[in-house]
Amino acid sequence: MNDISGAQPSMHFDHALSRTAHADYDPPTVLDCNDVNIFYGSFRAVTGVSLAFHRHEITALIGPSGCGKSTVLRSLNRMNDLVEGARVEGTIMFNDENIYGKDVDAIEVRRRIGMVFQKPNPFPKSIYDNIAYGPRVTGMKVSSMDDLVEEALTKAALWDEVKDKLKQSAFGLSGGQQQRLCIARTIAVQPEVILMDEPCSALDPIATTKIEDLMHELRNEYTIVIVTHNMQQAARVADRTAFFTALADDTTGDRTGVLVEYDFTSKLFEQPADQRTEDYISGRFG
Ligand SMILES: Nc1ncnc2c1ncn2[C@@H]1O[C@H](COP(=O)(O)OP(=O)(O)O)[C@@H](O)[C@H]1O
Ligand SMILES: [Mg+2]
Repeated sequence: MNDISGAQPSMHFDHALSRTAHADYDPPTVLDCNDVNIFYGSFRAVTGVSLAFHRHEITALIGPSGCGKSTVLRSLNRMNDLVEGARVEGTIMFNDENIYGKDVDAIEVRRRIGMVFQKPNPFPKSIYDNIAYGPRVTGMKVSSMDDLVEEALTKAALWDEVKDKLKQSAFGLSGGQQQRLCIARTIAVQPEVILMDEPCSALDPIATTKIEDLMHELRNEYTIVIVTHNMQQAARVADRTAFFTALADDTTGDRTGVLVEYDFTSKLFEQPADQRTEDYISGRFG
């Protein structure tokens, strides 16, 4: 709640504004959700989400706890397949392909649309092997693994801090370094999209700033979707923001997540179109 009530006075939109100065700026769609419903067994966690993610943009998913942000995020690379009873209806197009199509290889989908989790989860291996693991198991053709490891760590802004201890355990790194290692591990298999589920919520403010700066760098090469419960973070990093909430059914009282409003970040925070967005960002509802 703190981050919500404290949100408004200190919000800055420099970054988002710089990307939205031209109203006709509309890069191509990379991922496109059309009328997506997501179930866990008979429970409908998310209803009717249509949402397009644009190339080389950072999109934030925000909204109160339990409104389905992580569920939507996991549907974007078929991570929900790994959850018992989870089911997705509707279409999610990745470029020109429905990722839930019949002959689609979910593992390949997850390589091209990588994911970074809330809690850094390096493998119990050396720093080097954490990066080399993905390329090895996916059988990537690699001319020099050393070069690939260096490149991924450099792109994740970690190389200088670890270049002299590549053979040491990843567990010796700080939390922030571990999270950047997980980002490097995702990058190593050459994805197009990187999904991040509250990637900074276990980190201190300095480590958080490093990840946010890194996201701005990565945007030049990748498309990023980030779930964050921190509205200032959405305001700082995201080009566009999608606000979700949970609606209760009048008769049954069952709650389901819906997309309320999706717009450029500056627009959504400064001139929200929906009263529910306004209430949320001004802290009247959490
Ligand atoms: N693995 C699961 N099995 C059953 N229900 C789940 C599972 N994961 C999430 N849910 C439910 O789906 C709804 C949305 O959850 P989630 O996507 O985690 O929300 P958020 O990330 O916005 O906090 C919640 O009601 C939650 O309890
Ligand atoms: Mg979540």
